[in-house]
Amino acid sequence: MKEKILITSALPYANGPLHFGHIAGAYLPADAYARFERLKGNDVLYICGSDEYGVAITMSADINKRTPQEHVDIYHNLNKKLFDKLNISFDNYSRTTWSGHTKTAQDFFLDLYNNGYIEKKVEDHLFSKEENTFLADRYVVGTCPKCGYDNARGDECQKCSASYEASDLKNPRSKITNSPLILKPSTHWYLRFDKFKDKLNKWIKDKPFKENVLNFSKEYINNLKPRAITRDSTWGIPVPLDEAKGKVLYVWFDAPIGYISATKEWAKKIGDENKWKDYWFDPKTKLVNFIGKDNIPFHSVFFPAMIMGQNKEYKLVDDIPANEFLMLEGKQFSKSDNWYIDLEDFFKNFSTDQIRYYLASIAPENHDSDFMFKDFLSKCNSDLVGKLGNFVNRVLVFIKNNLDKKIVDSKILLDEDKKFLNDINYLIDEANNAYSSYKLRKATQIIMELSSKGNIYFDFKKPWVLKKENKTDELHTTINLCLKCIKALSLISFPIIPTSANEIYKLLGFNDDLNNQNWQEVKKLELNVNKSILEPKLIFKKVEGKMIDDEIDKLKDTNEEKNLPEKSYEPLKDEITYPDFDKMDFRVGYIQEAHKIEKSNKLLKIIVDIGFEKRQIVSGIAKSINPDDLIGKKVIVLANLKPTKLMGIESQGMIIAAGDDVKNLEIPFLEKVEKGSIVS
Ligand code: MF3
Ligand code: ZN
Repeated sequence: MKEKILITSALPYANGPLHFGHIAGAYLPADAYARFERLKGNDVLYICGSDEYGVAITMSADINKRTPQEHVDIYHNLNKKLFDKLNISFDNYSRTTWSGHTKTAQDFFLDLYNNGYIEKKVEDHLFSKEENTFLADRYVVGTCPKCGYDNARGDECQKCSASYEASDLKNPRSKITNSPLILKPSTHWYLRFDKFKDKLNKWIKDKPFKENVLNFSKEYINNLKPRAITRDSTWGIPVPLDEAKGKVLYVWFDAPIGYISATKEWAKKIGDENKWKDYWFDPKTKLVNFIGKDNIPFHSVFFPAMIMGQNKEYKLVDDIPANEFLMLEGKQFSKSDNWYIDLEDFFKNFSTDQIRYYLASIAPENHDSDFMFKDFLSKCNSDLVGKLGNFVNRVLVFIKNNLDKKIVDSKILLDEDKKFLNDINYLIDEANNAYSSYKLRKATQIIMELSSKGNIYFDFKKPWVLKKENKTDELHTTINLCLKCIKALSLISFPIIPTSANEIYKLLGFNDDLNNQNWQEVKKLELNVNKSILEPKLIFKKVEGKMIDDEIDKLKDTNEEKNLPEKSYEPLKDEITYPDFDKMDFRVGYIQEAHKIEKSNKLLKIIVDIGFEKRQIVSGIAKSINPDDLIGKKVIVLANLKPTKLMGIESQGMIIAAGDDVKNLEIPFLEKVEKGSIVS
């Protein structure tokens, strides 16, 4: 029977570019699951959108001198484009600034309010007279009440890690304008989360959440307290009460409601306005929230409580595949620390499926994991090219060269053939189990296991020998089973690498693609016997070591700049005497030519005139200096250095340069002295 499955990925803040950490945590796993469930013939709806309110956004907008709307427009579009590039198959990618969301969130508030779950409280908050506004904690700095650090943040001291209320800071001031702040009473509305303890406890008891999600959530439930769900701000959804002028809903109150409003928007777009109710009001819908671990309590505790306080019976979440974090080469992704991958660049060099496959293979399912460039290269080359691509290609090329591209039928199955078929079917079912339980890592391993089984079977059967010995029946059986294996591979790899899987599927002579197929049907592994395969072509590209070195270089580049203040100085070398120094003959040289050396990104070949003769010098300055900037300059040359060869090119001397890294060298240039002059 068709199951209704409503899948969501955490609504990303439209406040900065997403990175692979986000993708591996909440988007790729959800997309693979959505694709899998669609293949299974289920009624899948995959919903997401941008989270566009909140103080963090007004703050970044201020800093960038944009209005909050301009700011979220930029990142909404940027992130949407990234999702397109990554082939994330949302049925709708909405945003919380669309009007339908406002109404939905306000209705949510009103139900809770009318049902007695929302209370008003007056408390002192920090107020800036100069800006005529209350300031959220994140806009506040002051002197830490504990250690006295005078630039401590509003919620937590970055020196001593003390956490406190912003109103506890001494000399509080505005982070933006530095104006002093005073305490002034302000009214806010609190949601009595504590009133939902029993209901939540009962509900969560038999949920199939991961152990850590469950334990963490139970802990949370037992400590529930009323929480303010309103803020003083002009950016947000207005609190729908006459007495609440100038107050907006707290972003974590409205954001999860975005799942519902995004579904409403989807229904509108398909011209069936009430269709969203089929999902949200049907208790048989399976609702799955894909999130990163930092979002757990909002999905397992706060939003369920908000739903429990509604008059209508919205779906409560059925599963929360919360992932851990993905790091980049051992450190957290961070644009501000320059520890990130420029995705625009990355997509120029690598394909969507290479990226999807690699991220799936390292998905941070049970613990934090690492994006490592060398590992990326090895997974692309030894897995995708070496195992999967190689198997598909060798079988198809064999058919082209020996069977006139014809898809042959199987005859009698020998034991080894039966075993191979069994393995194929077993691994299809294993893949099914992996996808059903959101295990992408496992799925990539199964794809590789099946590819290897195919390669081993092909090597064992040696169809080229069968052909030579005219064992036609056995040859046909072998090739037929290999084609079945390829079909199985396209099926089980589709959720992770949909483009490549479709290409493989089509090579087998199928006209349609897997988007319109059914798992059960494809699983029968039927082939177009007696029809033709397409012209074989390579599905996966090899990644060159050089491309990876360049990526690693970029990462170090930017990060080293950042770490400069911590640099240490080289210890001084042993003392020398004047005669030692006098052995060296320095001359002024005039640079006539300078060229890059092929295959080297460090070296330049330079022709220098030192007055009485010309020298060819190979110099390791290419990462710092453009050869064109050297021509016509006068430099200091160590002229009596014994010639040597660098990259096979003779170097007759050395040009003096300063700097402690090959990437920031500087050459002292001389102005007036003539070429050939002695330097002493
Ligand atoms: N914007 C939040 C974040 O990036 C996630 C919001 S998820 C939702 O951490 F459920 F609130 F939508
Ligand atoms: Zn402190």
